[in-house]
Amino acid sequence: MVLEKLVIMINDKIAVIGLGYVGLPLARLFATKYSVVGFDINAKRVDELMSGVDSTLEVEDETLQTVLVRKNSKETGLFCTNSIAEIADCNYYIITVPTPVDKNNRPILTPLIKASKTVGSMLKNGDIVIYESTVYPGATEEDCVPVLEKHSGLKYNKDFYVGYSPERINPGDKEHTVEKIVKVTSGSTSIVGKKVDELYKSVITAGTHLAPSIKVAEASKVIENSQRDINIAFVNELAKIFSLMDINTNDVLEAAGTKWNFLPFKPGLVGGHCIGVDPYYLAQKAQEYGYNPEIILAGRRLNDSMGEYIASRVVKGMIDKDIKIKKSNILILGVAFKENCPDVRNSKAVDVIKALKDYDTNITVFDPWVNKKEMINEYGISILTKLPNERFDAIVLAVAHDEFRNFDLGKYTNPQCFTFDVKNMPEFKSDKRL
Ligand SMILES: NC(=O)c1ccc[n+]([C@@H]2O[C@H](COP(=O)([O-])OP(=O)(O)OC[C@H]3O[C@@H](n4cnc5c(N)ncnc54)[C@H](O)[C@@H]3O)[C@@H](O)[C@H]2O)c1
Repeated sequence: MVLEKLVIMINDKIAVIGLGYVGLPLARLFATKYSVVGFDINAKRVDELMSGVDSTLEVEDETLQTVLVRKNSKETGLFCTNSIAEIADCNYYIITVPTPVDKNNRPILTPLIKASKTVGSMLKNGDIVIYESTVYPGATEEDCVPVLEKHSGLKYNKDFYVGYSPERINPGDKEHTVEKIVKVTSGSTSIVGKKVDELYKSVITAGTHLAPSIKVAEASKVIENSQRDINIAFVNELAKIFSLMDINTNDVLEAAGTKWNFLPFKPGLVGGHCIGVDPYYLAQKAQEYGYNPEIILAGRRLNDSMGEYIASRVVKGMIDKDIKIKKSNILILGVAFKENCPDVRNSKAVDVIKALKDYDTNITVFDPWVNKKEMINEYGISILTKLPNERFDAIVLAVAHDEFRNFDLGKYTNPQCFTFDVKNMPEFKSDKRL
């Protein structure tokens, strides 16, 4: 049987389904050793990648160009396409599509189910489908495998097999790139687990950790981000408490951080596609099992309250300086969900902007990293990627992009101006900090 052979065959061919922040770096990495077909439903994304450009900035254009091939073949390299037929002769299918939540914070599995249909329609005897998207424990085998079976007409763990290997990259982080992060792997049988593990081991220089089951691997990913969310919620709560006491939270954290086991979390806005979303996946599954998660959801509520809280601190600071709020001009520095990256998905700086607008203020948003069109499409907010020669009544540093380190505050402040730093950037000499 095909699977008895653990050695990765030289003619293995990998399809990566979904070429976003996670899929592209992975496809690029595998393409240094294997023939890889990158499949995405977004034709514009495919065209951009085939022209050697990655607008997410996760893979440098030059690095991408070194693996791109013009023809889909068995040769090593990456061929990107939006045509399903091109993935027909692959034997590994790796699914890296989004797993968002709806407006009531319920998991949306639609992209995963659609990708499973696509792959199901292509499955052959002996193929292995590996899911990388972040999900709750059980999603792979309970939600996705039945779709694969239905659309392939094949039997799970008899004709085809499944693995789960969560991604741990961090958008904009050029140090912890995919090959440098230990990869958790798993498979639907012990042999498949080993085979999946061998596949990743062949490209991940940091090594792998083979989990005993798919559910364990799924659970391990979702708790990593839930743990971060809860820890950040704790320091955000501290920031609220210490502000009432007129104590600088960052000074407190620095002092407490001298103890060997004090965890170095910072207060801030928790946005993006992962930390602010994944805990809801775990919470939903826990609720299905009749358990109401208290700490996980309290952490979510606390972190989601920070946008309005920051806006209220800004307004209070302006009032303390006798600055008229109505029609005041406020500059927001940064709107990406985190520093040095263009990703605006689930940006919480947007919550600050919306809350400040409710006070009938004029908001100018400056972010040199972010795509203007995307901000309009996603949030209806127009932004500037170049700073205007204007002065403001308040300036809020919302995102710690490197560009803001040399920010000449004096050039943009009115004689009476309140400045607030959400990110505790030492170079940014603000009146108040979170
Ligand atoms: N962004 C991160 O840093 C990060 C880190 C770890 C894990 N994750 C997880 O990885 C998964 C993917 O996240 P992402 O940030 O790469 O998303 P993304 O939105 O950047 O990319 C997803 C890509 O999938 C494509 N797509 C959607 N449906 C498809 C389908 N049916 N068939 C083919 N392509 C399809 C989209 O067009 C898009 O290009 C999510 O589950 C996320 O939680 C993300």
